[in-house]
Amino acid sequence: MLTRILIFALVSLLACKPDPVEPPTPVDEKVYTPTIALKDKATFPVGAAVQANRLNLPSLSNLVKKEFNSLTAEYEMKQNIFMPAANTYNWAPADAIVDFAVANGMRVHGHALIWHSAVPDWVTNFAGTDAEFETMIRDYITTVVTRYKDKVASWDVVNEAIADNGGTLRNTIFRERMGDDYIAKCFQWARDADPDVLLFYNDYNAEFDQTKRTAIINLINDFKSRGVPIDGFGFQMHISHDAPSMATLTTAVNQVKNTGVKIHFSELDVRANPNKDLTSLTLARAQSQEARYKAIAELHKSLPANQQFGITVWGIYDDESWLINFWGNIDWPLLFTGEGLYKISHRGFVEGL
Ligand code: G3I
Repeated sequence: MLTRILIFALVSLLACKPDPVEPPTPVDEKVYTPTIALKDKATFPVGAAVQANRLNLPSLSNLVKKEFNSLTAEYEMKQNIFMPAANTYNWAPADAIVDFAVANGMRVHGHALIWHSAVPDWVTNFAGTDAEFETMIRDYITTVVTRYKDKVASWDVVNEAIADNGGTLRNTIFRERMGDDYIAKCFQWARDADPDVLLFYNDYNAEFDQTKRTAIINLINDFKSRGVPIDGFGFQMHISHDAPSMATLTTAVNQVKNTGVKIHFSELDVRANPNKDLTSLTLARAQSQEARYKAIAELHKSLPANQQFGITVWGIYDDESWLINFWGNIDWPLLFTGEGLYKISHRGFVEGL
């Protein structure tokens, strides 16, 4: 009896004794410790836009090597960098990225041979004839694609050639100097330089702008009917945590899928602060972004395997995103914090793969 009393007393004492273990350190639920890398979970290439001068940072380059198996140069493979002056090529910035990729067994997606926002001044002010202008562009495309043959797997040959309103051709110096069929000429010159490289047309807002998307589909089908080489389309996929709807995105992707070309989600970022209502990332908004990355990965995975060219995120650390300067407000659109911590958006991406 005495024993029972003693045991009861001991149990009662322990039950009311405060837990000696410190309460767990409160962690920021917006970050997490990953269990698998994106490229190891994915059944298609997962890439990132990188900058040559940032790959020298061990923390960033280690993260890039661990998570991604495809690279896009954020700006170093555009004409204004490749050709700072007439008959003058600047290979070093692009070579740094290509060499890093080759050394680490990563695919390189070339971006972008022709883009009206990356035209060097000497091209804008080109004083020669239209025929001489066309020859200069042909020589530029031929020289670049030849140099990176067997190192660059694919090129955005032309970027953003469709205007925002009405789906007509954008009035660019290329259209003015080479005529409406300049896009087909550029694709053919790229193919002539490399019979194996995959050739993409890349654009934004095709995710929700039906008129623009119809113009893009018409371009793809016209090329295919004329035997103009084209292998894929890049949805830039600059979206928000809450828009466009997944129904809208699914309709858009399936419409282009039906042309038969490969599909690249080429510049994915997910604005968490599109309405500028936040001054810091809330858990709720981070969770909404997490769900978005998951849904986008699932959407890409729903494509036929031979049309899954992959998903490329447009940057590494949140605070380096182009979106912040472009929209003029703080945002957290990517997979890693400015300190290189894994955000739960990465977790959503992994779950969607
Ligand atoms: O920091 C370098 C400096 O070291 C270098 O000497 C100088 C040479 O021009 O460039 C500096 O970097 C800037 C770079 O962004 C990094 O911040 C470039 O000046 C600047 O032109 C570059 O802007 C890029 C822009 O395209 C134009 O190429 C953005 O990073 C890049 O995010 C943006 O990406 C575009 C896609 O190509 C097409 N879709 C839209 C997307 C956003 O605009």
